[in-house]
Amino acid sequence: MKLAVVGTGYVGLVTGTCFAETGNQVTCVDIDERKVEKLNNGIIPIYEPGLDVLFHRNVEEGRLKFTTDLVEGIKGAEVIFLALPTPPGEDGSADLKYILKVASDLGPILNQYVVVVDKSTVPVGTAEKVHAHIADNAKVEFDVVSNPEFLREGVAVEDFMKPDRVVIGTRSERAKGVMNRLYAPLVRQGNPVIFMDERSAEMTKYAANAFLATKITFMNEIANLCERVGANVDDIRRGIGTDSRIGKRFLFAGIGYGGSCFPKDVQALAKTAQDYQYDFKVLKSVMQVNYSQKTKLIPQIVEHFDGNLRGKTIAVWGLAFKPYTDDIREAPALDNIKALLEAGAKVTAYDPEAMENVRNILGNQITYAHTSYAALDDADALVIMTEWPLFRTPDFDKMNLLLKNKVIFDGRNVYEVDQMRELGYTYYSIGREA
Ligand code: UGA
Repeated sequence: MKLAVVGTGYVGLVTGTCFAETGNQVTCVDIDERKVEKLNNGIIPIYEPGLDVLFHRNVEEGRLKFTTDLVEGIKGAEVIFLALPTPPGEDGSADLKYILKVASDLGPILNQYVVVVDKSTVPVGTAEKVHAHIADNAKVEFDVVSNPEFLREGVAVEDFMKPDRVVIGTRSERAKGVMNRLYAPLVRQGNPVIFMDERSAEMTKYAANAFLATKITFMNEIANLCERVGANVDDIRRGIGTDSRIGKRFLFAGIGYGGSCFPKDVQALAKTAQDYQYDFKVLKSVMQVNYSQKTKLIPQIVEHFDGNLRGKTIAVWGLAFKPYTDDIREAPALDNIKALLEAGAKVTAYDPEAMENVRNILGNQITYAHTSYAALDDADALVIMTEWPLFRTPDFDKMNLLLKNKVIFDGRNVYEVDQMRELGYTYYSIGREA
């Protein structure tokens, strides 16, 4: 099939590349000339494991193209995906200006039946708005479908190629046929394509992210209570996760969820509830708890150093909001670094992928180490903010020689408490005994 993808961010680029991989002819359109030039020169602007191999193969074999020209990009396309940003506005609601602008631009240039697909996470009612904006100037028939994306950064390609399910919101039989054909190669193992109306599909995406954010937050609160009652949150996780109704995944306590999706989507769903005069109490608590959870180690760090961090150097391992990404949007590490700097500490940080992005924000307010060990040199304590696998099995002998004190504040429960005790560390973690 011939497809167009408008917007080449994480979602757009993965969608375009993966659909090219299943044999489609894909043109990706973006208004950012520099980005398109880079992509045409074989440079992928994001770090996403596994994307490069698929990207280069499909570009070389002529199935994946990039342009800034919308007219050229959508020529002959049976499906046009909209994968555009929906940043939170001042009041927390998702800002639809990019999507609706493209919808208006599409109307006059469509010249055959096409399915326009909302792939971005958009508030309930957006498909109707997109339809109205296209219809204003359209001379041909078209359908607007809501097809939310459930991929996770870091495993986006795998999530896309082997989806647990595909949700498609449309009441048009013609559009259903097109979407079924497109997704058939990805659901061969029998994973369902679930059809529903547009509004329910839009709501499904928010419900999924809000539920997962709530699951994490619930465990974070259990962890906070574990610290007080003297229980171990890892045991609780194993104890409850084996109940199939609860499930093993997304029960890891830590310094809160971050990233570009959970915080934004929880906020946007809360705003939707407010717009419809519904008091969504659970969601409000989730936001509050996550906000305080992010910097929960700071008081412990300050107290450990007798209330004074002036002149102390703190090594920070991990800057990205989670492993296998260079994304630092809403990353707890940033809040913690800011708090440490405000308290008068010096910070030396290391992250395998995200240092350039942090440098663009914090500049020379902190020191950037070339390796995880270099960050420890002469540091008074180590703080772990992201659970990169590299940090799980370090050479402790080497660490002992570099760190001034054997003190670790672990925001991701990377080590076992007993192991740290045996190694002689003062070890603070989340939901476990100090
Ligand atoms: C999330 C969803 O998982 C995807 O299904 C969805 O498509 C995506 O948002 C989106 O809306 O685009 P992502 O933000 O890439 O994906 O990251 P996750 O792997 O879900 O992690 C989110 C946050 O939760 C991270 O900060 C992570 O550290 C935290 N987390 C995750 C925990 O604190 N504990 C856990 O047990 C799991």
